[in-house]
Amino acid sequence: MSRRALIQYLELLKQSGVRQLYLTPKNIEAAPDKLQTLNNLKTAYGDCNKCPLAKGRINLVYGEGNPNAKAMLIGEAPGEQENDTGRPFVGAAGQLLDKMLAAINIRREDVYIANIVKCRPEGNRNPSQEERLACLPYLVEQINIIQPQIFLILGLVAAQTLFGDSNTLTWHRENRSEFMGRPTWVTYHPAALLRNPNWKRPAWEDLQAFQQAYEKL
Ligand code: URA
Repeated sequence: MSRRALIQYLELLKQSGVRQLYLTPKNIEAAPDKLQTLNNLKTAYGDCNKCPLAKGRINLVYGEGNPNAKAMLIGEAPGEQENDTGRPFVGAAGQLLDKMLAAINIRREDVYIANIVKCRPEGNRNPSQEERLACLPYLVEQINIIQPQIFLILGLVAAQTLFGDSNTLTWHRENRSEFMGRPTWVTYHPAALLRNPNWKRPAWEDLQAFQQAYEKL
């Protein structure tokens, strides 16, 4: 990891309230394989009470996909169907996401899909800053386990949270950057594309750029 990426990572941990670092996740046995470690963590966090979103939780939506994925997709927050099933992106936005991935020849099961927050905000409101920061250490931990080589960030909330800024989605799409030392693309959230089909063309351009990078890995 470059010095810049390390500083960005430590800054993110500090913002999320992390004051101590452990070599292995606290209180969790590091399992012999990544999938088992991720499953152990999913179970361990199932009764998380760090933020108000716990109140509406039916299922923690930890994330799913290939534990050795080369690419990780990061959305915003679970919706109703995700809360009901415990799986990310299975509702209407998820169905569009599946089509977007198919259009760039990427199989959903080959990538890893997670969200900024792992519990559903009531009425699908945006998660608050407090909720985002409470949940971020879980995502950072997941990234450290999976070690994806590139990221695709879905939507403004995820982009602003991960980059710690208030820039617009257009700015993030046009100023491609790195997150935790890995090349990162930002595009429209599929739910936004369902609301405004005019964004499908620029989203398609983002996806093609992401696909080019993915195919070189
Ligand atoms: N929207 C998201 O951002 N994540 C999901 O898992 C589902 C809908």
